Amino acid sequence: MEKKRSSFSGGIGFVMAAAGSAVGLGNLWRFPYLAAQYGGGIFILVYIILALTFGFTLMATEIGIGRKTKKSPSVAYRVLHSKFGFLGHIAILVPMIILPYYCVIGGWVTKYMVTFLSGNGIEAAKDSYFGGFVGDAVSPLLYFAIFFGITALVILLGVEKGIEKISKFLMPVLLVISIFISIYVMTLPGAMEGVKYYLLPDFSKFSFKTVCAAMGQLFYSLSLAMGIMVTYGSYTKDETNLSKSVNHIEIFDTAVAFLAGFMVVPAVYIFSGVEGTQQSGAGLMFITLPKVFEQMKGGAIIGALFFILVFLAALTSSISIMEAITSSFVDKFKITRKKAALVCLVIAIALGIPSSLGNGVWSHITILGMDFLTFFDYLSNSVVMPIVALFTCILIGWILGADTIIKELTKNGEKMGRAGLYRIMIKYVAPVMMVIILVFYTLAQFGVVKL
Ligand code: TRP
Repeated sequence: MEKKRSSFSGGIGFVMAAAGSAVGLGNLWRFPYLAAQYGGGIFILVYIILALTFGFTLMATEIGIGRKTKKSPSVAYRVLHSKFGFLGHIAILVPMIILPYYCVIGGWVTKYMVTFLSGNGIEAAKDSYFGGFVGDAVSPLLYFAIFFGITALVILLGVEKGIEKISKFLMPVLLVISIFISIYVMTLPGAMEGVKYYLLPDFSKFSFKTVCAAMGQLFYSLSLAMGIMVTYGSYTKDETNLSKSVNHIEIFDTAVAFLAGFMVVPAVYIFSGVEGTQQSGAGLMFITLPKVFEQMKGGAIIGALFFILVFLAALTSSISIMEAITSSFVDKFKITRKKAALVCLVIAIALGIPSSLGNGVWSHITILGMDFLTFFDYLSNSVVMPIVALFTCILIGWILGADTIIKELTKNGEKMGRAGLYRIMIKYVAPVMMVIILVFYTLAQFGVVKL
């Protein structure tokens, strides 16, 4: 007999758990630098439109699949259709690609947290600080090891629940601090230009690339197309109103990302003008925020607090990423958690070390013109996730029918606001879009087409 699956206590519990793991470096680190890079307001606009259409469709689908089958992704897709078991296996590739470089960035956050805690925040505000740190061979690797080590320790000791409890309590604090910092940034001289850049869409900056970047970010931030939401869905009770939960998770996750952008993007504008938005890339948050804290009264303390909270947000996400890999290995190969964690360690070393060194001593080695970290990020968000999303759309939209999911979401007589939109999205718009992204974006990377 199968053991009864443990489940979330109810709608709110589910939303908080899903949002808690969804909110992480994707919102705080990745969203602001993409928004800066892809033209500010226009990126925000495209992102929100995609979230309301694609994000909603895919999240409803994955959570629906999870609750309908009550299985983890490695089994869930096979239960739905005997020929679709492979999807579960591709999906698990995503966390495997993400975990190593996620821990590299987590290491950067750890370094900044330590710097601020030891009262050296002023140092971090210097122009050369970030470059000097990531360019070094040893120090970033050390912090990567620390961050990965803590993640692995939590998994091995099985204390995820404790960490989650702490972070659930602290996430609202992160929100409040972020609002405070955003407001402070707006009081700095010259802030309005930056706020305009962040909020007002400039349609001349729109391009196909904007859509691709926003789509990748959407998948990443909502933890879609990697089996995670299927797993969460499998833990939800049959009474939970899923379409409502989907809306809440989306709103929460997008709000945090938007707020993070509000702290960072106008500030970049203040300190280094419009050129600054194009220059720093992945380092944007680390370069910009210490400058804000330097100007702020009590900035040393706010800075320390801020990086502690980002550290915790990153840690809860890296724990759930590692948990996803570990549990699917345990399920699939019937090995112990310890052995599964060891596999994660091997992957983390193999992919994490190049991701870290690629910013410094190995920066001359590139794949398709990208350093290792950027490449792994590209591979997961722009290749593997669209593939998983595409096949999910084919399975639900064309083989089983949209009603499979709509029925699951409305089985207690709930209203599903966008059921009509859902039907069109899952069958036509989403799969076509995935094919376009896969084909053109890949061709562009090989220089065959220019976007
Ligand atoms: N969505 C998370 C973030 O925004 C990152 C993430 C990717 C994640 N995959 C995940 C979190 C799997 C939990 C589980 O940072």
